[in-house]
Amino acid sequence: MNMINIDKQHLTQYVSDAETKQMLEEIRDAKTTLVSGRGKGNDFLGWVNLPEEQDVSIVNSIKADVACLAPKISVFVVIGIGGSYLGARAVIEALQSEYMHAVEPRRPFVVYAGHTLSEDYYHQLLQLLDREDYAVAVISKSGTTTEPAVAFRIVKSHLESKYGKAEAANRIIAVTDARKGALHDIAVKEKYPMYVIPDNVGGRFSVLTPVGLLPIAMAGYDIDALLQGARDMRRICLENDSFDDNPAMEYAALRNILYRKGKKVEMLVNFLPNLKYVSEWWKQLYGESEGKEGKGILPHSLSFTTDLHSMGQYVQQGERLMFETFISVDKPSSKVDIPVDEQNLDGINYLVGKSLNEINHNAELGTMIAHRNGGVPVLKIQIPQIDEYVLGQLIYFFEFACGVSGYTLDVNPFDQPGVEAYKKNMFILLGKPGYEGQQLV
Ligand code: PA5
Repeated sequence: MNMINIDKQHLTQYVSDAETKQMLEEIRDAKTTLVSGRGKGNDFLGWVNLPEEQDVSIVNSIKADVACLAPKISVFVVIGIGGSYLGARAVIEALQSEYMHAVEPRRPFVVYAGHTLSEDYYHQLLQLLDREDYAVAVISKSGTTTEPAVAFRIVKSHLESKYGKAEAANRIIAVTDARKGALHDIAVKEKYPMYVIPDNVGGRFSVLTPVGLLPIAMAGYDIDALLQGARDMRRICLENDSFDDNPAMEYAALRNILYRKGKKVEMLVNFLPNLKYVSEWWKQLYGESEGKEGKGILPHSLSFTTDLHSMGQYVQQGERLMFETFISVDKPSSKVDIPVDEQNLDGINYLVGKSLNEINHNAELGTMIAHRNGGVPVLKIQIPQIDEYVLGQLIYFFEFACGVSGYTLDVNPFDQPGVEAYKKNMFILLGKPGYEGQQLV
C-alpha cells in the first residue's frame, strides 16, 4: 500500500493541471529510460531492483553480526562520508529518541566519524571511546576516500591499544568494494569481516545495501520492515504510469515544472527535528545527481518551527527563487499534553486540551498558507508516521524520483565528477605522492 501522498493544494496558483498533464509524456519517457537501462550512467542502476533482489544471506549475516556484537558494546562507530553514512544516519536519527543515550541505554549508541577532518571532533570522539565498549564499521565504496581513511587509522589505533590486535579485529567490520581499494586490501590482510557494496550501486543510492543496513540493524531497528517498505514502493514506481498512482513520477514532474519557471531552489521542510538527516541524505541525493553541466535545482533544507525564527523572514519576503517541499507526518509516535495552569500568566491556556501534534500541525498549515501567499510554491509529501516501513518507502520514492528527474533534466544522475576538484587541490597542498608540481584547479 502506498504510504506517500503528494498534496498539491498549495501549488494550484503556481502549477495548473494542464501544465502537469503536459509533462506526463516527458516523465514517462524519462522513467522508461531509467527502467530500461538505456540512459546515461546506466552502469549504476543496481539500486532500482535492489530491494527485490537483496540477497537474504547478506541480511541474515548482518543480523548475526548484530546478535554477536551488540550485547558487548555501548557504542558503535560508523566511519564513512557522503553516501557511505548519510542514509544510515537519516534512518537511525529519524527513529531514535533525541535523548537516546540516556533513555534507551540497552541499544548500542551509533556515533559517526570519517565525515569530517576536525581535530577537535576526533579528540572528543577518542575521549568517548576511552570510556565506552565499542566496535566499528568502516564504510567506503572506493576504499580510498581520505576522510574515512584518516578516521579509520585513528580509531583502529585506539581500538588495538584498548583491546589488543586480535580482539580489535573482532570488533571491526569493513563495507567496501569486492575486489579493489585500500580498505578492501586492509580488510583482507587483517581478516576483518567484510560486506560488499555492489559495483552497480553508487554511494548516494546505497542505503539499502550493507552500507545502511549494518548500522541501522546495529542501532536496533528492523531492516526487514525497511526493505519491505522499499520493495512495495518499488512495485508502485515500476508498475504505474500515471501521476495519480505513481508519487515519484508526480514529484519529478512538479519539481521540473517549477524549475523551468525559475524556481531554482528547493527547500525540503520538516516540522520534526528527527528528520534533519533525512534532509541531509536527500540533499546529497539530489545535489550530486542533478547539479552538473551548469544545471540543477539547488537542494536546501529547513527544520520548522525552529528555522521560522531564523530563515522564515527570507522565505516569506526575500527573493522569489525557491519552492518548498514539506514532509508532513500525520501521527507522532508519542503524546505530550499541555498542562493546565490556573493563573494563565503565559496566556496559553487556550491550547489546553490540544495535543502538541495538533499545535505543530496548525503551525505547519499556517506556514504553508503564509509562504504560498508570499510567493513560494508549496508541495506537500504526506506520510502517516515514521517507522522503518514508511522510511523504506520514502527512501525508494526519493531515489526513483531522482533518477526520473535527472533524466528529465538531461544529465547523468549517477556520476559526480565535480567532487574530485577539491580532492585534487587538497592532495597538491598536502604534498601527496604523485601530485608534486601540479596546478591547483
Ligand atoms: O555519492 C557518492 O558516490 C559519493 O558522494 C560518495 O558517497 C562519497 O564520496 C564517499 O565515497 P566512498 O564511499 O568511496 O568513500
